[in-house]
Amino acid sequence: MAVTVKSENAIELMRAAGNILGRVHLELQKSLKEGMSTKDVDRLGEEIIRSYGCIPSFLGYQGYPASVCVSVNDEVVHGIPSDKRIIKDGDIVSLDIGVIYKGYHSDAARTHGVGNITSEAKRLIEDTRGSFFAGIRQAKAGNHLHQISNAVNSYAVKRGYGVVRDLAGHGIGTHLHEDPIIPNYRQIRKGLKLKSGMTLAVEPMLNIGSYAVEWLDDDWTVVTADHTLSAHYENTILVTENGPEILSITDEELKSLDITGK
Ligand code: MF3
Ligand code: CO
Repeated sequence: MAVTVKSENAIELMRAAGNILGRVHLELQKSLKEGMSTKDVDRLGEEIIRSYGCIPSFLGYQGYPASVCVSVNDEVVHGIPSDKRIIKDGDIVSLDIGVIYKGYHSDAARTHGVGNITSEAKRLIEDTRGSFFAGIRQAKAGNHLHQISNAVNSYAVKRGYGVVRDLAGHGIGTHLHEDPIIPNYRQIRKGLKLKSGMTLAVEPMLNIGSYAVEWLDDDWTVVTADHTLSAHYENTILVTENGPEILSITDEELKSLDITGK
């Protein structure tokens, strides 16, 4: 599939989809509490998505059975919500959500600490978000894709993390997954030249230990091979002449973040 440059009309719809997704994340985060099952989180997430007139894009995608991927602790991504998995104090919980609004997709993930988490876990969550922001700073017209990958990688490696290699970011638009594939680790080849109007989902996954991951027998849940904690941070962005416009975050959430670009 060729990489597409979105029309003004498509970009407006992707802004709308992204804004809704940003709100969905904020609302779901507010309700996330110890004692909930991961299925409770999914049910509530689906309800919030539909309250905005959106369709949950993950539900039924290649057979995935839920609207929200809920991945706890050593689970990296694609955790399947379950009534039996109860969230407890000290857990870190990654919520990955996709919505479709008027035919356009938006995709975003956050990792949250529940109750009292270790300082190591807190640092992992913040640094995973930091690696995303380091990466997208390179998302301007004329740059090449590997600049995003290399910026994410060096930010993470400098801080001692393993950068997951078996999963990557992606283009997004009328489909959840479009070209290009956006790796989070160092790339030798320059890759695609970025153009204004491209929309990308950049999504670093960082582990406290090794980058190696494994798939559970449910064929979805990805876990760290060494069972160290993992965090995920993702937004749908628009490439412009001046840099990235983050589509899937509200102004409220963006302002609350400490993004100093260290
Ligand atoms: N953000 C994830 C991705 O881009 C979400 C996909 S989960 C699935 O791969 F359930 F839809 F597969
Ligand atoms: Co994605």
